[in-house]
Amino acid sequence: MNDNITQEIYDKNAASWERREPNSLSDFTGRPPVFDLCGDVQGIDILDIGCGEGYCARILKDMGASQIDGLDISEEMIELAKRQDQQAGHGSRFRVGNVEELPFDDDSFDMVLGMFVYNYLHVDEMERSFSEVKRVLRPGGRFIFAVPHPAFPQIKRSLNPPFYFDFNGKGYFSSRDIRHHGEISCRDGKRLPVQMVHKLWQDYFERLGAAGFTNMPTIRELGVLPTHLELDPDFFNPVNDIPLHMAVLIDHS
Ligand SMILES: C[S@@+](CC[C@H](N)C(=O)[O-])C[C@H]1O[C@@H](n2cnc3c(N)ncnc32)[C@H](O)[C@@H]1O
Repeated sequence: MNDNITQEIYDKNAASWERREPNSLSDFTGRPPVFDLCGDVQGIDILDIGCGEGYCARILKDMGASQIDGLDISEEMIELAKRQDQQAGHGSRFRVGNVEELPFDDDSFDMVLGMFVYNYLHVDEMERSFSEVKRVLRPGGRFIFAVPHPAFPQIKRSLNPPFYFDFNGKGYFSSRDIRHHGEISCRDGKRLPVQMVHKLWQDYFERLGAAGFTNMPTIRELGVLPTHLELDPDFFNPVNDIPLHMAVLIDHS
């Protein structure tokens, strides 16, 4: 279990994650396409797992979601989420917890979002969480998550900003289920410590199946777009044309 390492990292760096506007690389390349994938959220109940300081919860609320519950293993991140939610007057609920054991009743949510949380879990932990997500989702609900792209250890090997993980020379198969340290940069110059427990493509799909999801998932492979290069070529160019993130949407029938 790596809960303590993750908790320590996020407790220590919570203030650097706080933001009201897009700032980190993935706020541009990762999160907006995932919000598109969420589709119409008007009037629905959403659980945001690994919610951090509540950035996604605030956006989903602005998109029209009815009620948002956020859960994160870091007490500091949850404190920040609560404080910012109060300022925004959104009335979302945030609590400390582990995505492997969701403290919610069966059939509680129309959508569960896991934005860059499964890269902190080992394969078996991820499967436990997938089963929990299925349990708390209402029939017909949607499960959406985003992770660093599974091809990352093969394609992005240099330890340079704005986004890298140190695979210690290991490759696609040999780096599987091992925790790798990395950094993601922000446009304001900050560099945030991040981690990736690398998983194979097959791990995601086999474990979704093992958790009882039976529908065909929708996959989006995400990276730098021409609009990013126009906005800030120096920042985005070093990772242009590289698969950075993978987003998955799967319906619970
Ligand atoms: C990269 S941050 C993303 C935060 C937020 N989803 C966002 O998009 O801004 C990853 C978050 O996952 C949380 N996390 C990692 N492992 C977790 C676990 N097992 N249970 C709950 N939260 C976890 C961390 O504390 C951290 O806040």
